[in-house]
Amino acid sequence: MNIDNKIAIITGGASGLGQATAERILAAGGKVAIFDLDDQRGQAFADAHPGNAIYVKVNVADEASAEAGIAAVIEAFGTIHICVNCAGIGGGTRIVGRKGPHSMEAFMRILNVNLVGTFNIIRLAAAQMLKNDPVAKSGERGVIVNTASIAATEGQMGQVAYAASKAGVVGMTLPLTRDLAEHGVRVCAIMPGLFETPLVSTLPQEVRDYLVTTMEFPKRGGDPAEFAALVGHIIENPYLNGEVIRLDGGTRPPPR
Ligand SMILES: NC(=O)c1ccc[n+]([C@@H]2O[C@H](COP(=O)([O-])OP(=O)(O)OC[C@H]3O[C@@H](n4cnc5c(N)ncnc54)[C@H](O)[C@@H]3O)[C@@H](O)[C@H]2O)c1
Repeated sequence: MNIDNKIAIITGGASGLGQATAERILAAGGKVAIFDLDDQRGQAFADAHPGNAIYVKVNVADEASAEAGIAAVIEAFGTIHICVNCAGIGGGTRIVGRKGPHSMEAFMRILNVNLVGTFNIIRLAAAQMLKNDPVAKSGERGVIVNTASIAATEGQMGQVAYAASKAGVVGMTLPLTRDLAEHGVRVCAIMPGLFETPLVSTLPQEVRDYLVTTMEFPKRGGDPAEFAALVGHIIENPYLNGEVIRLDGGTRPPPR
């Protein structure tokens, strides 16, 4: 799908991978709606791109909040062609730690944002995409890109909740593709390795330095622009569908 003049929702678009994706879509002539909880960064981004970007405070895991967000996009831009789900949270706890078993609250919180939140936005965005006229020639009505993680298949110690949430995102890819195929909506997911974003900057420096030593090539964290470049390619290549793509410089994380 040619991005020029298309409308995109980007969850988590106020920071990191989502913000880089918003910049990529704007550069290609699209318009973006940032769904995030970070008012300051989200509004600053929208203010920097008047007429082409809006910020809507949306908790992706909340039904009413997501519905209101979708309504705000329709009011501002009229429709939705592209949905990129980047909102997510981390967190590391072993299944049994010094304080006892993994808390249910922490497990549910991570699943709720990363998996339930992704599902929540997809169902509402897809319902809008189905109302679009198919794009001439390709017949596409929409494109959905979800953000999983290499932890979906190679979760490290302490990543049980995060890995489960991202495995859920990977697992949704094919059934979503099949559900939406007859409507001309494509679905792909990306499994990023370590990327240099505010989420990762919360890890202790020695942990980040160690992770870099385990990498193949390039021996560095990914640049969010490299993630955004892949999102752009998925949107623009009509033959990519139902696929989960690793973007990790060949890294296979060790157990810890
Ligand atoms: N950075 C990495 O190394 C890496 C690796 C693999 C996967 N990922 C995934 O990529 C995605 C983006 O990560 P990032 O590194 O850019 O993180 P980030 O913290 O920089 O950005 C995430 C954004 O999501 C927003 N957010 C969190 N909870 C939300 C909610 N309930 N509703 C709406 N917005 C919410 C945050 O406010 C933030 O702006 C996440 O899903 C993360 O799990 C990141």
